[in-house]
Amino acid sequence: MSGLRLRSVVKRFDDTPVVNDVSLDVKQGEFVALLGPSGCGKTTLLRLVAGFERLSEGAIEADGELFSDPGRHVPPEKRNIAIVFQSYALWPHLNVGENVGYPLRVRGVSRADRDAAVKQALSVVGLEQQADRRPADLSGGQRQRVALARCLVMEPRIVLLDEPLANLDVALRASMEETFRQFHEKTGATMVYVTHDQAEAMALADRIAVMEGGRIRQVDAPTALYARPATESVARFIGDSRVVDATILEAVGDDRYRVEALGAHALVRGRPGRQPGPARLSLRGGDFMPDEAGPVVGQVRRSVFRGGHFVVSLDLAASRGGAVAGEGDAVEVHSSVSLAHGERMAVSITDGWLVG
Ligand SMILES: Nc1ncnc2c1ncn2[C@@H]1O[C@H](COP(=O)(O)OP(=O)(O)OP(=O)(O)O)[C@@H](O)[C@H]1O
Ligand SMILES: [Mg+2]
Repeated sequence: MSGLRLRSVVKRFDDTPVVNDVSLDVKQGEFVALLGPSGCGKTTLLRLVAGFERLSEGAIEADGELFSDPGRHVPPEKRNIAIVFQSYALWPHLNVGENVGYPLRVRGVSRADRDAAVKQALSVVGLEQQADRRPADLSGGQRQRVALARCLVMEPRIVLLDEPLANLDVALRASMEETFRQFHEKTGATMVYVTHDQAEAMALADRIAVMEGGRIRQVDAPTALYARPATESVARFIGDSRVVDATILEAVGDDRYRVEALGAHALVRGRPGRQPGPARLSLRGGDFMPDEAGPVVGQVRRSVFRGGHFVVSLDLAASRGGAVAGEGDAVEVHSSVSLAHGERMAVSITDGWLVG
């Protein structure tokens, strides 16, 4: 098992860069989630790592071994990298055990060794009892477990997963998350996991790489990424922030600032060393507090119960001439009570993050 190193990787299709200057170090045994909007280049990046695509520039190494650069391309079967797709890709005419043992049969492993490895892999994913079933007789989650077991028997040094849970319903996704976690614990494999779903990425990954337009915008631990998004686009993408204009008035300690935003004064967080002047402020629902005497007043568009609290969409433009930038002129505020459309609501800003 080993780590993975991408150095300034570029992939062009017809002169258009689809992966653009991507550098990423994944430590041995680390679980990195690759998160980003549709079309940003996630699958292409995995295919480059697996060796299904040749790169245009840069280099890919694993365990110090050069896999790809413009002059060298180690074929996929020589990389010992397993890739798990959303579509499982199981053989319909083989039963579960035969599917899992297939890569070993191709490698010429003896029947007895194969059986032992298959049994072991099926027990990791909790499918010992289903070895004789056909894929058609399994649920989606069970099929994905078979695909995982098949990748396990290969003892790959790196496991790449391309939206493996995308076809499953919400309840099944939650239980599969646990399977992935155990799979990672038991194998210690280096894993790169592509997903659209930030909750999934947050729940599973040691670090998350956020991709946009072929580039990696930020790589950080989930908590750091959530608390300190590096750019406006990462802030919008992670945790659904609104980003508004603000003015930094003064620094109050190393990483806290007094700012003016939405016509109110507030104390927010930012990188150390920022100077007074114009800035952009990322605000989430939890950064507002309902406060009858609060300085920000808006009109309720709607109020939606999210289990435990209501998310109130508060239109600020209506009451103050359009101060809010970002998607629409509303901010989302958490409230313990439901509010009716058109009602006025006053809030104060209790936190926020100065982006950029
Ligand atoms: N073989 C190809 N030839 C030309 N363009 C391609 C090829 N493969 C991918 N692309 C383009 O590269 C871009 C990135 O595609 P990719 O499949 O990597 O995105 P993605 O992030 O995986 O998206 P999704 O989340 O929808 O799966 C897209 O604009 C796609 O159309
Ligand atoms: Mg994709």
